[in-house]
Amino acid sequence: MNIVLFGAQGSGKGTQAEKLVATFHCHHISSGDIFRDAFEDGSELGRVAHSYIERGELVPDDITVEMMLQRITQPHIARAGFILDGFPRTIAQAKALDEGLAKLGREIDCSVYFDVPRAELIKRLSGRYICKAHQHVYNVRTKPPKVAGICDMDGSELYQRTDDQGPAIEKRLDIFFSETIQLLDYYRAQNKLLHVDGNRDIDEVSADLIERLKKYLSR
Ligand code: AP5
Repeated sequence: MNIVLFGAQGSGKGTQAEKLVATFHCHHISSGDIFRDAFEDGSELGRVAHSYIERGELVPDDITVEMMLQRITQPHIARAGFILDGFPRTIAQAKALDEGLAKLGREIDCSVYFDVPRAELIKRLSGRYICKAHQHVYNVRTKPPKVAGICDMDGSELYQRTDDQGPAIEKRLDIFFSETIQLLDYYRAQNKLLHVDGNRDIDEVSADLIERLKKYLSR
């Protein structure tokens, strides 16, 4: 099973991916997490990507596609299937993904779009905290940790992403609603689109999504 999750920043891709992995036992691959890990490791990829991320801009397609295809085409990942979170984000990336998978005789089975109004996205992003060890996601308003500032799952410290502060939030949303939103037509044309109302309680979204995905994948 190979699924693409897309939606604006803060629409709940990472949050729902954690739940889908627990149900479908496949790999969660987040482009943003890979870039942030590369930066923590001090790699050249991380350094280059960081300069774009801090400004709220997309990392160039060639860098992103190469990094993601390397990961996706690893044999254990290709075998178990994956949930892509944050990739593709442009039509060029979506085409490169389809071509890369076709070479392996694989394809994307389904893409899920999380639809959330802009005002709600801004509220969510400004309240988000991430754990340092494994990037588990919290929110001061809607999903607070049991102990303030500490991850429930691994005890590591929580931090706020620099791109969740200041003007980078608006810039990221502008890019989404002008560019990434075009993926709706791309996957609709392939008859592979599930449109999900993401403006509901986290558990309500995941219960609906899991039920619909099970039906969709057994077609
Ligand atoms: P990335 O890390 O992917 O960030 P993003 O796209 O900005 O997406 P987010 O992680 O902000 O949102 P999400 O939908 O996962 O929301 P979450 O579940 O955390 O990318 C970072 C940067 O890397 C990009 O800006 C770009 O520079 C670069 N990059 C990455 N991929 C790239 C690509 N393909 N091409 C080029 N550049 C790329 O939820 C948000 C908050 O809301 C949380 O606090 C959560 O607890 C809360 N929440 C979630 N669901 C609900 C709900 N239903 N109700 C209430 N609260 C909720």
